Amino acid sequence: MPTRLCYRSYAKINLYLDVLQRRGDGFHDLETLFQSVSLYDTLTFKARHEGITLEGAPPELGPAASNLIVRAAHLLQKHTGTKQGAAISLEKRIPAAAGLAGGSGNAAATLAALNRLWELNLPDGDLHALGLELGSDVPFCLLGGFAAATGRGERLTPLPAAPPLQWFVLLHPAVAVSTPAVFNDPRLTKNAAAVIDGMTPAFAGLVNALARGEDATAPPADTARAPLFYNAMEAVTFAMHPDLARWKAWLLEAGCAAAMMSGSGPTLIGVCRDRAQAEAIAAAVDGVRASVVQAVPASLKDCTHGENPA
Ligand code: C5P
Repeated sequence: MPTRLCYRSYAKINLYLDVLQRRGDGFHDLETLFQSVSLYDTLTFKARHEGITLEGAPPELGPAASNLIVRAAHLLQKHTGTKQGAAISLEKRIPAAAGLAGGSGNAAATLAALNRLWELNLPDGDLHALGLELGSDVPFCLLGGFAAATGRGERLTPLPAAPPLQWFVLLHPAVAVSTPAVFNDPRLTKNAAAVIDGMTPAFAGLVNALARGEDATAPPADTARAPLFYNAMEAVTFAMHPDLARWKAWLLEAGCAAAMMSGSGPTLIGVCRDRAQAEAIAAAVDGVRASVVQAVPASLKDCTHGENPA
C-alpha cells in the first residue's frame, strides 16, 4: 500500500470553443476541443490518519477550504465514507483563473491519487461523476490528451494527436478573468444551431475531420464545417481587457500560424510550426509572461518514482 504519491497535473488549452444555449441548471452547453499541454503543477499526497491539510497553495488561490484540491478530497471522503486523511502539498506553476484549467487539473489529480492512496478502487466512471460535481473541466482533466467535448464539457470524444498542433507559445497577461462573468455577459453571442446526435453539424464536421487524421488547420473546403482556432468568448473577454486583442495580433505578426484565447481567458495561444519557432517567439515577448508548451498525451502523470518532481 503506498503511503506517498506524487502527481503532475498538466494545463489544458482550447483550440475551438463555442457556446450554445443556457440550460435549466444555469450552465451552458458548449462545444470545444481540449488539448493537454506540458505546463504542469506538482502535487504530493501523504497518508494521514484523519483530516485533509494543504500546503503550498499561493495566496491568490484563496482560502484552503475553498480550494478545489481540498474540496475534491472531502468529496471522496463523503462519497465513500472513508475516515482516512491526507497531507497534500502543491507546487503551482500554472497561472490561476487563466483559462488553463489549473484548478480543475489539481482536482483531477487529487481524485486519482487519493483513490489509490486510500485504496478505494472507485472505477473511472465514478471519478468522472465526482469530478463533474467539482467543475465542468475536471472530467477532461482526468482523461487528457486531445479530445472534443460537448454538454458542460464532460461528454468527451478522444481524438488522435494532430501533427500540426504540437508546439504553442502561451502568453499569460496578468489579469484574472471570472468564467461565470464571461458566460453571463450579454455580449456573448450564443450559437443557436440545433444539436443533432449530440453535436451541431458544423462541430461534428470538424470533429470527424480530426478523427480521420485530416489536417484541419487549413480553412474548411466545406463551409458548413466549423474552423479550428475559434473562441466565442474572445469578444467578451477582449472587451473587458483590450490589451488581449493586441497580444493576439502580436502573436500573428510574430509569425504564429494561428492565435486565439484559451477558455474564458486571459491566456493567449500562439500556434507554432515547431519548438524552435515557439522559443524564438517567446524570447521576443516583452511585457508579459510567456511559456513554450508542447501537446502531451495525458493530463495526469504519476511522478512518485524515478522522476524529479520539480
Ligand atoms: O463548472 P465550472 O465551475 O468551471 O463553472 C464555473 C461557472 O462558469 C459556472 O458556475 C457557470 O456560471 C459557468 N459555466 C457555464 N457553462 C459551462 C461551464 C461553466 O455556464 N459549461
